[in-house]
Amino acid sequence: MKIAVIGTGYVGLVTGACLSEIGNHVTCIDIDEEKIETLKQRVSPIYEEGLTELLNRNINQSRLKFTTDYREGLQDKDIVYIAVGTPQNDDGSADLTSVNAVCKSLASHLTRDVIIVTKSTVPVGTNEYIKKEIEDRLVNDVTIKIASNPEFLRQGSAVYDTFNGDRIVIGAEEETVLDALEEVNAGFNLPIVRTNLRSAEMIKYASNAFLATKISFINEMANLSEKIGANIDDVAEGMGMDGRIGGAFLNAGIGYGGSCFPKDTRAIISVAKDASYDMQILENVVDSNERQRGIIVDKVKERFDSLEGMKVAVLGLAFKPNTDDLREAPSISVTARLIEEGAEVHTYDPAAMDNAKNILSDQVNYAVDIREAVAHADIAIILTEWQEIKEFPLDEYKNLMNEAVIFDGRNCFTLKEAENSGVEYHSIGRPSVRK
Ligand code: UDX
Repeated sequence: MKIAVIGTGYVGLVTGACLSEIGNHVTCIDIDEEKIETLKQRVSPIYEEGLTELLNRNINQSRLKFTTDYREGLQDKDIVYIAVGTPQNDDGSADLTSVNAVCKSLASHLTRDVIIVTKSTVPVGTNEYIKKEIEDRLVNDVTIKIASNPEFLRQGSAVYDTFNGDRIVIGAEEETVLDALEEVNAGFNLPIVRTNLRSAEMIKYASNAFLATKISFINEMANLSEKIGANIDDVAEGMGMDGRIGGAFLNAGIGYGGSCFPKDTRAIISVAKDASYDMQILENVVDSNERQRGIIVDKVKERFDSLEGMKVAVLGLAFKPNTDDLREAPSISVTARLIEEGAEVHTYDPAAMDNAKNILSDQVNYAVDIREAVAHADIAIILTEWQEIKEFPLDEYKNLMNEAVIFDGRNCFTLKEAENSGVEYHSIGRPSVRK
């Protein structure tokens, strides 16, 4: 198949590269000239494991091309994917500015019949809107068909997820469109769910909202476990062994962040409002996650009356390990509160330091490694479960800190490890270990 992918952000780029890897001829289109130039040089603007290899191989074999020119990019194409960003408006709804711009460009440049596939996460009903927006402006006499093919990629393992996902969802109103997309995706060898447009759009939102709910649920159980003397590790293990519940996404912590869960939960609440439906469960999930982000500083404040002048090491700033992304990361509100309380904050993250400097600026200090961040600190707070942080021995905290008091927001260590090392250790949903 001959395919164009519009938007070379993390979803578009991974989609384009993976579709070319399974034998399709793909041209990625983006209005950002600098980005397209970089990609032509086989350099990825984002870090995703395996992506550079895919770029190299498929560009060399002339299956993958990049352009800023719609005319060139759309030439000969049977299928056009829309994979531009849909950020969040102030009211929580999805901002469709980029989608609208793409519709206009497509309308003026399409010269042959195509299937337009939406990869971007869009509110239910948007695919019908996209169809109308394009059809109303078409310059040439062409027929467009529309399909929804939401992505379920995790940042950091997006390439792996594309080839090893649990399912591919395709939604369209015509069987012929579903057949064509099934053929395009056949090379991934994954189960395919065929449905209509609105259900496909809804599957994406409902899946992310469910996972966010699962995280908030286990976080609330963790908070209660602390109060009644249970241990969330055992509670989650015992729950997860029930096949109906499943063990994944039951890690209690300081809440979910990133570019998807916070945005998509708010977007589905907004979709529900528009449909005059009060989506109470997700409103509670969003509130619960907000509260959870603050829980680690609450614990510190319970332990120490005042943080004025204390040196606090903050370890891990990215919203999750293996990414440099700070979007909706708990570290932003946690460091802000620590500063407000008068603490001197020393941060370290294995990958997110450059991004952190843009966001947290000179309000905090930036250490070159864990050792430097915790040296002579009064308190260490762990916010991201990086392997490097999990492997840094607790004994070292004892050697380096004034008094080793650790608040672990991601349960990186077992209570046994904490007891054996003799540090004071507070975590989420488990009894504190005191000297
Ligand atoms: C997510 C979805 O997994 C993906 O399917 C969707 O398309 C985009 O959103 P991503 O945001 O990359 O992917 O991260 P993910 O690995 O799912 O983690 C999301 C957040 O949940 C992180 O902040 C993580 O720390 C948190 N989380 C996850 C928990 O707090 N506990 C868990 O058990 C799992």
